[in-house]
Amino acid sequence: MKPLLKRSLLRAICVGLSVLLCACTGPQPRTEPSDERKLTVIGFSQVGAESDWRNGNTKSMQQAFSAENGYRLILEDAQQKQEKQITAIRNFINQGVDYIVLAPTTERGWDTVLAEANAAGIPVIIVDRMIEVADDSLFTCWIGSDFRKEGDTAVAWMDAHMPEDARIVHLQGSIGSSAQIGRTEGLMAALETHPGWSLVFQGSGDFIQAKGQELVESLLKSGTEFDVIFSENDNMAYGAIDALKAAGLQPGKDVTIISFDASSTALRLVLSGAITLDVECNPMHGPRARSVIEQLRSGETPPKYTYVDETRFDASNLTEEIISRRGY
Ligand code: AHR
Repeated sequence: MKPLLKRSLLRAICVGLSVLLCACTGPQPRTEPSDERKLTVIGFSQVGAESDWRNGNTKSMQQAFSAENGYRLILEDAQQKQEKQITAIRNFINQGVDYIVLAPTTERGWDTVLAEANAAGIPVIIVDRMIEVADDSLFTCWIGSDFRKEGDTAVAWMDAHMPEDARIVHLQGSIGSSAQIGRTEGLMAALETHPGWSLVFQGSGDFIQAKGQELVESLLKSGTEFDVIFSENDNMAYGAIDALKAAGLQPGKDVTIISFDASSTALRLVLSGAITLDVECNPMHGPRARSVIEQLRSGETPPKYTYVDETRFDASNLTEEIISRRGY
């Protein structure tokens, strides 16, 4: 047989075989150019990486919005700056994401950029802190903590355990954030009803360990005396503990430390006695935000506001088992 004839015959046999194969296996699925096409795209504007709480929150979002779960998460870290969050949201709009999730730095200043997201038809889900906007239809829903309740929980404990003449150092979180506003409001209200309590210092450590440490170091250097540190998060409490120890003081004995978040590292410090009370602020919002998005996708209307259930820990109710089950 001539070589050209042989090649044509072979080609004809191959085509015949593949037609037969297709007929046996049924219609083949149309191949998508890329798997990315099927994923729901989430633009997540995160506050930063200032605390154990925040890192736990980021991890929770990454796990919930994974490719295995059908999502592509675009995470933008704003380094605790609102202007970076506004830029990130505008970028998400330009990229045409399906949903925007915003963990806001502060409560105010969102009206304009959320109106832009609204005009682009992108639903916005707020997690963690609250926002204050003139028109609350600018966001679809909110999931987070009742920060004022957390403050009230801490002062109810102080009321039962602290002397009437307690001298208090107040380490505040980032000024203008709901976490700072609610916890501070709780303490301020209690100071009005406890005339014997005195506020010997109040200042912001921005939820950062190093800043908490600096503030307490300079108080100790200036000779300020105090009995209680009311630290608006765990990381500032870690800094305060380091400063007290460096000055030869015993945290938990010489100074009572009250903290917020209840991360696993801090709960170990509750067990060891360095932190006396830790009020829980739960950061595991990933599955909660995903559930809201799933409701929206299936045409349901999720609740506008979802408050997370939280508790408080001191030596009386804390166990190793509770700590080992913490996800942050
Ligand atoms: O908004 C939640 C607060 O932000 C947490 O208490 C703090 O640790 C975080 O940075």
